[in-house]
Amino acid sequence: MQGAGPRDFVVVANRLPIDLVEQPDNGPARWQRSPGGLVTALEPVLRSVDGSWVGWTGTAGAALDPFVEDGLTLHPVQLDEHEVAEYYEGFANSTIWPLYHDAVVAPTFRREWWHAYQQVNRRFAEAASLAAAPGATVWVHDYQLQLVPQMLRELRPDVRIGFFLHIPFPPPELFLQLPWRRATIEGLLGADLVGFHLPGGAENFRYLARRLLGLPSTHRAEGGLIEFGTRRVRVGAYPISVDAVRLRDSSAEASTVLRAEQIRAELGDPEVFLLGVDRLDYTKGIELRIEALRELFQEGVLDPDKTVMVQLATPSRERLAAYASLRDVVERVVGRINGEFGRLRGPVVHYLHRPVARDELVAMYTGADVMLVTPLRDGMNLVAKEYVACHGDGTGALVLSEFAGAAAELRRALLVNPHDLEAVKNAILSAVRFGDPGLTRRMRSMHDQVMTHDIDRWTRSFLDDLRTA
Ligand code: ADP
Ligand code: G6P
Repeated sequence: MQGAGPRDFVVVANRLPIDLVEQPDNGPARWQRSPGGLVTALEPVLRSVDGSWVGWTGTAGAALDPFVEDGLTLHPVQLDEHEVAEYYEGFANSTIWPLYHDAVVAPTFRREWWHAYQQVNRRFAEAASLAAAPGATVWVHDYQLQLVPQMLRELRPDVRIGFFLHIPFPPPELFLQLPWRRATIEGLLGADLVGFHLPGGAENFRYLARRLLGLPSTHRAEGGLIEFGTRRVRVGAYPISVDAVRLRDSSAEASTVLRAEQIRAELGDPEVFLLGVDRLDYTKGIELRIEALRELFQEGVLDPDKTVMVQLATPSRERLAAYASLRDVVERVVGRINGEFGRLRGPVVHYLHRPVARDELVAMYTGADVMLVTPLRDGMNLVAKEYVACHGDGTGALVLSEFAGAAAELRRALLVNPHDLEAVKNAILSAVRFGDPGLTRRMRSMHDQVMTHDIDRWTRSFLDDLRTA
């Protein structure tokens, strides 16, 4: 293991894999795992290549030197309060996040947020430039850092630059609303390879490069290259995945199986155990699935005395109004269903507004009969793949929104349009037909898909293409 000096491989993402969290009692701040799928996916990648990770600590004002923590070399980037408000909460999460997720909440366009975005992207590019050895590979991630590839190329023409977008890349009619649309495409084109989850995202990007910048591109079959000045930028689809072997193995461990049984017992040994696992985000469709369940109870087709749902909801972006009002909505629907159908011995929906430890999460996946994944739009959704990886024995059922990127691979899930409440209800009813051999076949086939398309394969395919780009 080297120290914190320049490396041949550098990951750049808005967040470090761990967050510095202030304690409410003014105790010393402590590190905890950062939320979200990007960190879940990239942590094993970085461990396998011994590179370094450039990112923010999740807290305003903390200026820290590079350090090594739990075997990972971390280069913190500092943001002040104003930048957290304008770059992170503003441009990244109130302009780009909603715009790229089908505008399910209206995006806000503000010039001062754009200026903060440019300024902070430049700081990340400078930090990446310091962290990268001559000729290094630098892999930039996600919508918070779309200008970094171009800025880094100006600083360090010697490095190889990859960019991967973890959220959907929107259709042109939405992207074209962005007042800074040309600069955003130019920023991304600083990379040698620009990757998306799905071919549709790559197509949208090629179309926009042609329409906004007049740049021709070759057909996908010929590498999907965009001619940009003297360079050719490769564009492709790389559906991200999970550490499938680790999940499968840990779900089969005796301690996990025991804990899964205990969880069911703690829940009152229901006949049906449904599970939802999400960041508390308005793209995830959490309230819809609870409403579908309530109607099934109300209609008498599902028995609330024999059914329990657990909904885990990690707090997210809590200072933003759209997230605060989503929390109100979710807590109202949870209160309503429990008020109508709960019993003195316990609620029908257990709602935990906090992250849970990884082992506990795997035990929940292992024990749950039905996984409910109903986003209105999601780049991939790793939760769906994590559940499937934990059900190699063919047990369990996955209700999955058509609008999650994962639906492109998990074709044998019970696919639903989450806007269609009757469809969600019917999918839940199909999922609880225990003993149906069709459900077992579906789960086995999805499990094979996830085992053969895991995070290692994703990393190799992206980095191999970057090497030859
Ligand atoms: P997103 O990246 O939008 O949050 P994903 O489904 O792709 O959505 O990834 C979410 C990741 O966060 C998964 O790895 C999941 O296991 C993890 N996660 C989500 N909610 C919780 C929770 N309450 N406790 C622990 N981990 C969670
Ligand atoms: C999604 C995004 C990530 C982000 C994560 C958590 O997975 O794609 O880039 O890190 O959500 O969101 P947060 O705003 O807390 O970093």
